[in-house]
Amino acid sequence: MAEKRRIIIFDTTLRDGEQSPGCSMNLSEKLEVARALEALRVDVIEAGFPIASPGDFEAVQAISQEVRGCTVAALARSTEKDIERAGEAVRNAARPRIHVFCATSSIHRKYKLKRAKEEIIRMSVDGVRQAKGYTEDVEFSPEDASRTEPEFLVDVVTATIEAGATTVNIPDTVGYAMPSQFGWLIRYLRERVPNIDQAVISVHCHNDLGLAVANSLEAIRAGAGQVECTINGLGERAGNAALEEIVMALKTRSDFFDADTNIATRRIYPASRLVATITGMHVQRNKAVVGENAFAHEAGVHQHGVLSHRETYEIMRPEDIGVPSSRLVLGKHSGRHALKKRIEAMGYRLADDQLEAVFKRVKVLADKKKDVYDADIEALIDQHLGAAAEVWSLQALQTTAGSTAIPTATVSLAQEGKTVTDAATGDGPVDAVYEAIGRITGIRPTLTDYSLRALTGGKDAQGEVTIEVEHEGRRFRARGLSTDIVEASARAYLAAINRIITSGRARERPAQP
Ligand code: KIV
Ligand code: ZN
Repeated sequence: MAEKRRIIIFDTTLRDGEQSPGCSMNLSEKLEVARALEALRVDVIEAGFPIASPGDFEAVQAISQEVRGCTVAALARSTEKDIERAGEAVRNAARPRIHVFCATSSIHRKYKLKRAKEEIIRMSVDGVRQAKGYTEDVEFSPEDASRTEPEFLVDVVTATIEAGATTVNIPDTVGYAMPSQFGWLIRYLRERVPNIDQAVISVHCHNDLGLAVANSLEAIRAGAGQVECTINGLGERAGNAALEEIVMALKTRSDFFDADTNIATRRIYPASRLVATITGMHVQRNKAVVGENAFAHEAGVHQHGVLSHRETYEIMRPEDIGVPSSRLVLGKHSGRHALKKRIEAMGYRLADDQLEAVFKRVKVLADKKKDVYDADIEALIDQHLGAAAEVWSLQALQTTAGSTAIPTATVSLAQEGKTVTDAATGDGPVDAVYEAIGRITGIRPTLTDYSLRALTGGKDAQGEVTIEVEHEGRRFRARGLSTDIVEASARAYLAAINRIITSGRARERPAQP
């Protein structure tokens, strides 16, 4: 029997995903995601865009040092400085890759780069040649390829392969392509580019029209050997193609695609939860593959069918993507060992001291609520991992509110061992708390989104507040948890302020791809 084609999975959650508004992660969060991607067995992790900021550079460098099982890629525009910085950042990777890009469509040539076609080819070729000085593994992307004149795209791809590109990535940068058209483009390149057999064809599809996954799958059918994607479909604007959807489509319909990946599919759900927890970007309930409703059968006729023969309504098994069969885990009397096993099954790998810290928090929580669920534990891990970036911490909070009272809050925050207390009034208790926090920290971002939900079932459930704030043109998402929803609101706001402070207010980001 002929071998199935093995599709290379290039994950860009930490680069294109992290670039999307409000999804920025700190160093320890990026490392945690990188570990989850390694456990998921992605082939390539695009760890960041090193020229963007010292923080991005540091993260790519740290991931290159730690992750040994995947290729680690760094993004660079086709300029000397970018490539130098990318080369430096991935220097210690077990398998380093530099991903060079240059826009090629007429609209980008005319309005963004203000360069003629010949100059674009020269810049692209120079970039690839320079990157080859750092690593053999060089990827080139003609940005906005799907809106580039196909004949010109042939010239660019031919020239960059000749210069040494080992992967040529065809991005649908603005999510404009239609599946059959995009498939046609890949076939066209395979037919017209004379040296195409010397490189892997990759695709990178955005989801502006909801077609990123469909376009990627069509490209695979047309001969693409690598797909760029992100966990939960995170990414610029409407996002990138979702890794979990592509991988499970290839697995579930391997009869149709005759292609497979190396992904450990049981790690999909834990990775999805981790990314949602860290970024505060919730997965919609009915999201394909990883949404809460993806395996929930509500209609009686469906339930009956599934009970008598699962495949009547289920094309994938929840256990194949790592959905835990039981979500109820621990109570007041559970021990460290039970917690450790549960945490490992959820896809986290914690060091002993981290486990001990989470264990203590679980015990405190178990005193407040009867049952501690996976979602509670996940949230505690997140709080613990995020604590490294805690500049201000909440010491005490007291509010008065009611239909006849003026909402008032007294808040105590600590920074470097020094506690500061202040009080404020507001439209409601949350507004009063935010006002008091603003007075203490001196940072007053604009609140652009606020949502509250119960983390689990039950009257004693923790309230989870997710917020988005805008500060000096940048957006930050954060969340807070507590069995008291005003305290959860305060924790979310404080986490956002800590993110603003640690993200380095002065950092200059170049125009993002
Ligand atoms: O969307 C895009 O074109 C990109 C490139 C850098 C691959 O993100
Ligand atoms: Zn992109």
